[in-house]
Amino acid sequence: MNKKITIAIDGFSSTGKSTLAKQLANHLGYVYVDTGAMYRAVTFFAMQNGYINADYFDIQTLINSLPNIKLHFKFNSVLGFGEMYLNDVNVETEIRTIEVSSFVSKVAEVSEVRAKLVEQQKEMGKDKGIVMDGRDIGTVVFPNAELKIFMTASATTRAKRRYDELVAKGDPVTFEEVLANVEERDHIDTHREDSPLVMADDAIEIDNSHLNREEQFELVLELVNEITKAI
Ligand code: DC
Repeated sequence: MNKKITIAIDGFSSTGKSTLAKQLANHLGYVYVDTGAMYRAVTFFAMQNGYINADYFDIQTLINSLPNIKLHFKFNSVLGFGEMYLNDVNVETEIRTIEVSSFVSKVAEVSEVRAKLVEQQKEMGKDKGIVMDGRDIGTVVFPNAELKIFMTASATTRAKRRYDELVAKGDPVTFEEVLANVEERDHIDTHREDSPLVMADDAIEIDNSHLNREEQFELVLELVNEITKAI
């Protein structure tokens, strides 16, 4: 029986991190954690309570309210992954809208928010056997992860994927709007002071602009097998 490892998957938005992470977790029998969903749930909480809108963000009140935010994932066997719950309410659909996407990077800049979520993420991974995706997993959450993947693809490729997903869900968005959101998030995520999106020195970069899901999965699975054999 191979030893369980920690797999950190970081990268830009809409690079297919969660698709790869879910495939790996299902195949390996590991826990999958989508940390973006946690930042989205905090953002949704801030929106619901009127702490953030297009021209206003009451950061201090959000910080003061952090103890009232309880997040957990509950595995849905039909979907094959854990859905996000905010204070015991399933918010998996609500956190995927373009409104949440347009505010989430601002919320993710707040150090107090990051500290709370990172602490919970470290706790979830303490027994290994976990695939976690996000922006700071290989650099901050699990700097000692045995396997770190950094995923990239061009902004246009990523916006096209995101646009197709939103349209399939009936969200009335334009491609330009989605592309602008992807580019704005890239900028904020890579330029923020606390835990900016950077590739860990020991991460393996995968540009999947021209790789399909299966090719990408096989490539990473091979890396996992090499590592687990060696430890
Ligand atoms: O992966 P995603 O697009 O659902 O993430 C939503 C936002 O959350 C993203 O714009 C940046 C932020 N995020 C972060 O700062 N750190 C993480 N570990 C995960 C997400």
